Amino acid sequence: MNTLSSIYVKTEHQKITSVFGGLTSIFEGCEQALSPTLLAKYEGIMTLPPVDGIVMTAIGDTVVIGDKTTLNEGSRDVLLQELKTLKPWRKGPFQLCGIDIDTEWVSSIKWNRILPHLPALTGKKMLDVGCSSGYYMFRMAEHQPAFVLGIDPTLAFYFQYRTLNHFSKINSIGMSPIGIQALKPVQKAFDVIFCMGILYHQKHPLDLLKQLKKMLVPGGSLVLETLIMDQPEGHSYPWVLSPKKTYAMMPNVYYIPTIQALNEWLEIAGFQTCKRAFCEPTTLDEQRKTDWIDSYSLDRFLDPNDASKTIEGYPAPIRAALIAS
Ligand SMILES: C[S@@+](CC[C@H](N)C(=O)[O-])C[C@H]1O[C@@H](n2cnc3c(N)ncnc32)[C@H](O)[C@@H]1O
Repeated sequence: MNTLSSIYVKTEHQKITSVFGGLTSIFEGCEQALSPTLLAKYEGIMTLPPVDGIVMTAIGDTVVIGDKTTLNEGSRDVLLQELKTLKPWRKGPFQLCGIDIDTEWVSSIKWNRILPHLPALTGKKMLDVGCSSGYYMFRMAEHQPAFVLGIDPTLAFYFQYRTLNHFSKINSIGMSPIGIQALKPVQKAFDVIFCMGILYHQKHPLDLLKQLKKMLVPGGSLVLETLIMDQPEGHSYPWVLSPKKTYAMMPNVYYIPTIQALNEWLEIAGFQTCKRAFCEPTTLDEQRKTDWIDSYSLDRFLDPNDASKTIEGYPAPIRAALIAS
């Protein structure tokens, strides 16, 4: 693997481990999991213009980086085309150099729900598992953490993040294009771990929870957000749905627990306390079709005659967040 991007990834890993002290072995051997062909594909797309000086970044519900004056019109047109090549843009929204990136998810809704329940983030070492474009990392950066490491193996999302932070140059955040399984389970490395929208995609959710517990410092917090289901009537023991093929058209959803079952998983994984932050159905305002994705969105994944059910007849998505330590 010797593409420019693989060298970039290695350099980025070195930067992360040197800036984010104490993580020296976390990326050991993980570069083998990267696809040189895919890296080369994205490398061909990336022609980001050099950015002189400081580009103003305003972090709010929309993460605004630069404005129309940051680039000349020609460069902005090129950037627009590159941003479109990086579709699907799932998590946001962003405004970059005056270009509105209206992502499929209005991720500020989740962030604003969870924010009042979070432990203090200032000065903390944090991991965001499945960080996508890095939207939440930007929101975390607002709190002056020691650092936030984001990981996500989907290369389009990695290059989205790289494009955004090419302009914002926030140095308390860093991202690696690897999945959690490829990351060395360095013990007691993080004060806070965010694991949002990940657990139901795991074939072995308990293994993931145990791994995350080990990676937390004693007393550290796991912010766990995931799909849950209501306990079906007439069953007294904690229930877990295991979708047969797809759930809301997603082929890789393995288990959706009730809150009670989720609490039990956390206890088995070694967490001693667990507080519920929120439990809300996903709405069509939060996840919707925009020009920044080419596929369908939630409105097509629900039963057209009964929005309380998915197209497969399962209960429609409800998401809960728990803070466990
Ligand atoms: C449903 S999205 C959740 C994104 C974001 N955390 C949120 O809550 O909005 C799941 C993300 O997990 C990423 N992902 C898939 N497999 C992963 C793995 N093994 N380790 C880490 N992230 C993974 C996907 O690329 C995707 O960005």
